Amino acid sequence: MLRFLTGGESHGMALTAIVEGLPAGLGVDQEMINRDLARRQMGYGRGQRMQIESDQVQILSGVRGGKTLGSPITMQIRNRDWENWKEVMAVKAPANEARAVTRPRPGHADLAGGIKYDHKDFRNVLERASARETAVRVAVGALAKVLLQRFHVSILGHVLSIGGSRRSRVELARSEVQPAVEGSPVRCLDGEVEKDILGRIEKAQAVGETLGGVFEVCAFDVPVGLGSYVHWDKRLDADLARAVMSIPAIKGVEIGLGFEAAERPGSEAHDVINYRRDRGFFRETNRAGGIEGGVSNGETIVVRAAMKPIPTLGSPLRSIHIISKRESEAAVERSDVTAVPSACVIAEAAVAIVLAGHMIQKFGGDSIEEMQRNYQGYISQVKSL
Ligand SMILES: Cc1cc2nc3c(=O)[nH]c(=O)nc-3n(C[C@H](O)[C@H](O)[C@H](O)COP(=O)(O)O)c2cc1C
Repeated sequence: MLRFLTGGESHGMALTAIVEGLPAGLGVDQEMINRDLARRQMGYGRGQRMQIESDQVQILSGVRGGKTLGSPITMQIRNRDWENWKEVMAVKAPANEARAVTRPRPGHADLAGGIKYDHKDFRNVLERASARETAVRVAVGALAKVLLQRFHVSILGHVLSIGGSRRSRVELARSEVQPAVEGSPVRCLDGEVEKDILGRIEKAQAVGETLGGVFEVCAFDVPVGLGSYVHWDKRLDADLARAVMSIPAIKGVEIGLGFEAAERPGSEAHDVINYRRDRGFFRETNRAGGIEGGVSNGETIVVRAAMKPIPTLGSPLRSIHIISKRESEAAVERSDVTAVPSACVIAEAAVAIVLAGHMIQKFGGDSIEEMQRNYQGYISQVKSL
C-alpha cells in the first residue's frame, strides 16, 4: 500500500509530506522532483505568487545515497513567501488583524469551513484550503512516477480547452509521451486552439475575470490487471476519480468517453476485442479509457477533468461580512486568472500516485528488485495466454 499525508499552510513556513510504502532500492533524484514542481508553477494566467515561489524539494528522510530505504520518506518545500507573512502566521504571536479575512469569498471553503471549525477569521480556513498544498502532492507524484518508470509506465497530461475554447484534438502518439519540462508545462496539441486559449486568457485578465477548462491525463503501458471488480473500493476507475476530484476546483472527472458514452448507442460505445500473436489481446478502439469492470485492460488509461473558473475575481462577487452581516464585496487574495495547465500537472501526480499504489498492491515486494521479479513473473503469465 502506498499512502501519504501532507501538512502545511499556504503562507506557513513549509509544506511537508510523509510517504510510506515505496519499496527500497528505488533511485530518487531531487532534481527530477523539482522539474515537476517547476512544471506545476508554469502556465499562462498564473498570478504573481508564481514569481515569488520557485519550489524546491528537500528530502528529510527515507532516502540514502540516492536510493529509497523502504522507510517513510519525508519531503519539505519551503514557502519563500513566508518571510513576508512570518508575523501573521506565527505560532505564538496573536494573529495580525490586518490580514484577517472577514468577507468570505464565494466558491471557496471560507464560509462553510469557518462555520464548521468556528473561525471568525477565514484566513484560518483559506491557508489550508488553498491549492498551494498541491505543490507537495506533485512532489509525491514525482516519486510515484519514478516507480512507474521502472515498469515502463509513463504519464502525460495536456490541456484540451480553457474558457470554452474549442477542444483540442485528442490523438496522442506514444512517441509524444515525454512531457515537456521547459517551456509550456502541458502541451495543447492543436496550435489554433492554443492561440484561441491565449486570447481568452488575456481578455479575461483585462476585465478581472477568471477561466476554467478541461484537461486530460493519459497513462501509457499500464499492465492489464490493476484494480479489481470484486469490491467497490478496489476499482481502479473509482480510485482515479477520487484522486483527481480531490484537486481543488475540479468539478467533474471522466474516464474514456465519460459523459459522451451516455449519448451513444452501445455499438458505438464499447471496444471490440482483437488478438494478434505479437501483441496479444487488444482493443480496436479505446472508448473505455483503458479500464473495464474497475480493472486496467492494457490500453492507455485516459482520465479527463473539468476545472471551474478560479473563484477569486479581480472584480469580486457580493458577500456578507461575518460580524456586521452587512453586504460587502468578497475579500481579494492574490490570484490566478486560470490554473488549468497547473491543475493538469497536479492531476498527472494524482494519477501517478494511484497507479503506483495499485502496482505496489499487485506486485508487492519490499525492494524494487523483488517487485520487478513479481512483475516479470506476471507478464510472462499474461504473454503465455
Ligand atoms: C493549481 C491551482 C491554483 C489555484 N489558484 C487559485 C487562485 O489563485 N485563486 C483562487 O481563488 N483559487 C485558486 N484555485 C482554486 C481554489 O483553490 C478552489 O476553488 C477552492 O479551494 C475551493 O475548492 P473547490 O473549488 O474544490 O470547491 C486554484 C486551484 C488550483 C488547482
